[in-house]
Amino acid sequence: MRTEIVAPLARLRGVAHVPGDKSASHRALLIGALADGESRIVNLSPGDDVRATAVIIERLGATRAADGDAVVVTGTSGGLHEARGELDCGNSGTTMRLVAGVVSAVAGHHRLVGDPSLSSRPMDRIAVPLRSMGAVVEGHGARLTAPLAITGGALHGVTYDVPVPSAQVKSAVLFAALSAREPSVVHESLRTRATTEVMLERAGVAVESVNVGSGRRVTLHPGRPRAIDWRIPGDPSQAAFFAVLGVIHPDAEIEVATIDDAPERIGFVTVLRRMGATVALRPGRGGADLRTSHAALRATSIDSSEVPSVDEVPALTVAAVAAQGVTAFRAMGELRVNESDRFAGSIALATALGARAWSEGDYFFVEGLGDARRFESFTLAATLDHRMVMAAAIAGAAGHGCVIEGSDTVSTSFPTFFDEVAGLS
Ligand code: S3P
Repeated sequence: MRTEIVAPLARLRGVAHVPGDKSASHRALLIGALADGESRIVNLSPGDDVRATAVIIERLGATRAADGDAVVVTGTSGGLHEARGELDCGNSGTTMRLVAGVVSAVAGHHRLVGDPSLSSRPMDRIAVPLRSMGAVVEGHGARLTAPLAITGGALHGVTYDVPVPSAQVKSAVLFAALSAREPSVVHESLRTRATTEVMLERAGVAVESVNVGSGRRVTLHPGRPRAIDWRIPGDPSQAAFFAVLGVIHPDAEIEVATIDDAPERIGFVTVLRRMGATVALRPGRGGADLRTSHAALRATSIDSSEVPSVDEVPALTVAAVAAQGVTAFRAMGELRVNESDRFAGSIALATALGARAWSEGDYFFVEGLGDARRFESFTLAATLDHRMVMAAAIAGAAGHGCVIEGSDTVSTSFPTFFDEVAGLS
């Protein structure tokens, strides 16, 4: 376990490069494994989470090779097969949930394992729809935590209303549905990232998406994806850390290059603008460039529906500590089942920075200090949570430094994060 000492940074200028979007990277690997032929993937996320998916597709029969700056995945013409031994998903909930969908349609027995953080996260949310399609899915306790034992085989189509807004659950069903006998329909009451639908459609799968109020209905007709080439845009959820750093740091002008600007991914920009920040998003080829500079922030009220999947809440908590007034984070219960309990973790981080923070049910509140120069220095234990590491680091860099125990867990999604921060000073 590594301990990172983050020093306050005096002046921040330049361009931060974030890795290829983690969500799109997992899907490009899985779609490539299911397709017949070679898929070239450029700008694949270098994080451990995506590597876990890459290793798993090989164990299921696909092959993978490096070719310059691309990864080439070759699917198996006869379809995927049962792996010998366990499928190790590491720290990655996306790997476990999406691979569960894929192997539900692969005849045989599959055992999915993860690290202690992943082994505490609920898997009943995918087991319920996958069971109704015909797979046998077993796990531990009421929430069916990993290790998961899945017996895959012939599946039925399903019509499923996803009870919690979750792109991972929607995607588990859609991946299973590719091989089902009948079409499937997935309904979500709040639009989560559409990465799976969009990428499957590009790969030639018949998938239709219709907006229904603030939600969406996705209909998928079974079929095999085509092998195509992918260029993965930068990860907006990683850009959020630099956006907040650029806004709260007293002397900063920061750009983040070529990020995915899909509406479900950039809610954090709307929130920061409402708090008084200037955040420019300039669309370009292959993604948008984001630019921020220092601004005095005012408190706001943030509902989880503005940032579906709530990945950006730890970063926004740091913005709330720098703001003037009390920021409300509403309906944030999902944070409790992330890589760590980010609900408690965000409150603890705000408190460690010297702010008053408290919870009421699934809401939490942060009374800001009005300026990052008033942040206290602090120590944080990362508890296998990459986003808590990055949230702490930007707070330390903009304020008065910090010590992060277990900082190496940042490699699950962003191995070069600390280099990118240092490169701005
Ligand atoms: C992801 C979905 C999100 C997000 C995660 C990646 C995905 O979770 O938190 O980092 O790639 O589908 P939800 O399933 O809660 O939307």
